Amino acid sequence: MNGFSRLLAVLLLTLAAGHPAWSADAANGKRVYLADGCFACHGRAGQGGAMNYPAPPLAQTKLPLAVFRIILRTGPKDMPAYAENVLPDQDVADIHAFLLSLPGRRPTQDMPLLNQ
Ligand code: HEC
Repeated sequence: MNGFSRLLAVLLLTLAAGHPAWSADAANGKRVYLADGCFACHGRAGQGGAMNYPAPPLAQTKLPLAVFRIILRTGPKDMPAYAENVLPDQDVADIHAFLLSLPGRRPTQDMPLLNQ
């Protein structure tokens, strides 16, 4: 490996490490979302739900990954706080990617059953 390609490899590895969202895996995100119980409050399709407090819909979340991660680490209201040793940053990025892959809410005119 010559000097330039070594430099390029180091640069790419550094960028990849700093930006886990680049390699986010929505299928793993779905697995963790179900395994770690997010679905119990926020719904299997990220549609939201109600425990003691309303748990907001998460499908098609507008939250940037950095803010999303802070919310998970903090655990607002009756949501548990997920520390990094139980929910690594990579899993957080994967859950975020999974939520963005869900269809989210649709207007009723897009649902044939409601327009007969
Ligand atoms: C025990 C119920 C519960 C569980 C389990 C739970 N949450 Fe929450 N979550 C909540 C509630 C309630 C709120 C709203 C808090 C508020 O009103 O400030 C919330 C808020 C959020 C928000 C902020 C949404 C927004 O638009 O403001 C995100 C993101 C989130 N949860 C993600 C997750 C993820 C991902 C998991 C699983 C790792 C999870 N939650 C597990 C109850 C829960």
